[in-house]
Order: sequence, then C-alpha cells, then structure tokens
Amino acid sequence: MIVLLGYMGSGKTAASQHLAALLGKDAIDLDALIEKQESGSVRDIFEQKGAIYFRKKEREALEKVLTDDDVAILSLGGGTPCYYNNMDLIASYAHVTSFYLQASVSELLTRLTPEMAQRPLLNGLKSPEELADYIGKHLFERSQFYNKATFTIKTDGKNPEEVAREIVATLF
Ligand code: S3P
Repeated sequence: MIVLLGYMGSGKTAASQHLAALLGKDAIDLDALIEKQESGSVRDIFEQKGAIYFRKKEREALEKVLTDDDVAILSLGGGTPCYYNNMDLIASYAHVTSFYLQASVSELLTRLTPEMAQRPLLNGLKSPEELADYIGKHLFERSQFYNKATFTIKTDGKNPEEVAREIVATLF
C-alpha cells in the first residue's frame, strides 16, 4: 500500500488520483472514508462533534483501512500523522510505503489562501498574514511526524502528475 501524507494543500488527493491512473489501481482518501462512515462532511463533524471526536474516528478509519488488502493507494488528512501513534502504526506495516509530500510555507500559503473559509482549522483566521503565521508554526510542529514517512517528495513548483511520477520512480 502507498500512503500519501502532508500538510493541508500539499496535493495529497490530487497526486493519489494521478498515481492511481499510472498504476491502474484505485485510490482512497481517508477523509472521504470518514465522511461516508459518519454520513457528514469533515467540516460538519468538526463543527457539530468537535476535533477530538474527529481524531478518534480518523484513528478508527486508519486502523481499518491499513488492514484492507484491497486498498492500494491511500491519502491521509493533513493531521492524521500527528495524533495517537498513527505514524508508528503506519510504519509497523511492512506492506506500507509512505510518502511525505513536502511543500514550503509560501507554496502552501498560495494554495490555502483561497480555501481558508472552507477549512475547519483555518476558518477562524482573519487575514493572509495570520494564515502565514499559523502555517509557519503549525507546519514546524507537524514536521516531526511527517518526517517519519518512508520517503519525502518535494512538491514546490510541481503539478500533481509530476509528483505521482516521482513516487513511481522512487518505488520501481
Ligand atoms: C486536517 C486536514 C484535512 C481534514 C481536516 C483536518 C488537518 O485534510 O482531515 O480538515 O488537521 O490538517 P486535508 O489535508 O486532506 O485537507
């Protein structure tokens, strides 16, 4: 199983779809699995049941999907690696190779500014300056978890197809 991880806006879902096309396999998104199981959007789950509930459901969905032999490509949510011992769990499976899609703060800022209002963690921020500060600190805190991935792919200036090709080149 190939697992893609990285900060919000790092292009995990888009890269996983290109990867699926290149490898002729299906890609699954952990957020989409949670939405299906909970019959509601991630945004609604955050708003109505809170972040702790979401992280619990995320952990449960992760445990289940990692043991599903039919899943070939999995993209995680940006926070998945940073809760419970999720990265250690991922690393404990010999059949899993994980990729950290690494993007710089400035690249993430460009990608996330138009989406600020829709994202549960960012919708309380008031300006692009606040967003820049938030991403800088948050990415620094999260990097220790992301860096536990098997491989790191730098994504700045690359489109999702190029990222997917680089993943394939790393694997085969
Ligand atoms: C989150 C990232 C989101 C989603 C939720 C929390 C995070 O996933 O799981 O809004 O903590 O970074 P994407 O990275 O796919 O947007």
